Amino acid sequence: MSSQLISNIGQLITNSNENLGIVTDAALVIEGQKVLWVGSKNHAPAADSKIDAAGGVVTPGFIDSHTHAVFSGDRSKDYVARMSGQKYATGGIKTTVAATRTATEDDLIAHTKDLLRKCQSHGTTTIEIKSGYGLDVDTELKILKVAKTFTDETTFLGAHVIPAEFENNREGYIQLVKNEMLDVVTPYAKWIDVFCDNGAFSVDEAREILQSGIAKGLKGKIHGNQLGDTGGAELAIEMNLASIDHATHVSNDTIAALAESNVVTTFLPGAEFFTKSSYPKVNLYFELGAKVALATDCNPGSSYLTSMPIVMSLAIREMGFTPAQALYAATAGGAAALQRSDIGHLQPGAKADLVIWQAPTFEHIAYRMGDIDKKILMTGKF
Ligand code: NIG
Ligand code: FE
Repeated sequence: MSSQLISNIGQLITNSNENLGIVTDAALVIEGQKVLWVGSKNHAPAADSKIDAAGGVVTPGFIDSHTHAVFSGDRSKDYVARMSGQKYATGGIKTTVAATRTATEDDLIAHTKDLLRKCQSHGTTTIEIKSGYGLDVDTELKILKVAKTFTDETTFLGAHVIPAEFENNREGYIQLVKNEMLDVVTPYAKWIDVFCDNGAFSVDEAREILQSGIAKGLKGKIHGNQLGDTGGAELAIEMNLASIDHATHVSNDTIAALAESNVVTTFLPGAEFFTKSSYPKVNLYFELGAKVALATDCNPGSSYLTSMPIVMSLAIREMGFTPAQALYAATAGGAAALQRSDIGHLQPGAKADLVIWQAPTFEHIAYRMGDIDKKILMTGKF
């Protein structure tokens, strides 16, 4: 196996602890696809080849643990409506569903590839992708097949909203999701997610759907508390789900309960930005030691965003994250939300997914919204 030495690192972010585990004047050795050694540049072992980091910052690649990156069609009218003050509601999802149903698998692959190239160019090295713009058996399957060509972190979100053709038969759609749809998509999905919110699914419906997926071997996460304090976070705790995503409206008592649980709270400030909604504040989460992640929520309706550094900048500017908390949440936090221990850090044994930033300190990543010369090393798929 060949080895590679990254020398002359000004700041190496190992994420060995929540304060980022920073090693200054550092070096890192990769062997094969993994980190073999990290430490002071003066003690670096020899390797087969060498990359000079020129005093820059090395961080783990970003883990974007929540996207809806496989879709078709245009929702720019929704954006214009939001900017003129019209409130976000779930109805717009149906526009994307109609376009995604008629798109071919090849169209979707080409579009997703373009989008993921952008994600990667901003430093993302692991991405999760959900279905949810199909809402029928064939299209949910088509989306998940496409997603699976790019990542192993694929999520079945058949319970995104009730599709138009089932408007008068809610129970019929829930049964379709829990049975035929689930059976067909399970080989292509690792996760199951439900949009549990106003205008989507109730807590009881979400519980029932998640239980069916978990019984088939999928792992659970939930979209919740985006449009109201509607019980998704409490259900995530009850079911010990990997994460509650959005969490815009959560009571202090539930934040305390989240901090006591294993559930990761994934914040998606792009959604607040693009829907002109108010941002949740994170002080209490950090005070109580809750696990938090940041992700793009990349989707055409509520967060058409591929850049994790922009997500970090929004989280710092609008939600009360420090730059260090934002970087940890965008890397180690995302890994925790995907229950992965091999990514999101750069300690020996980790996957060698990393970014070399030509900047003097890690704060520059958010400060300059990621607009920094960088080199991305990754071992994963997309
Ligand atoms: O995560 N919250 C639910 N679903 C997406 C939005 C989907 C859409 O509007 O197209 C989200 O924000
Ligand atoms: Fe989402």
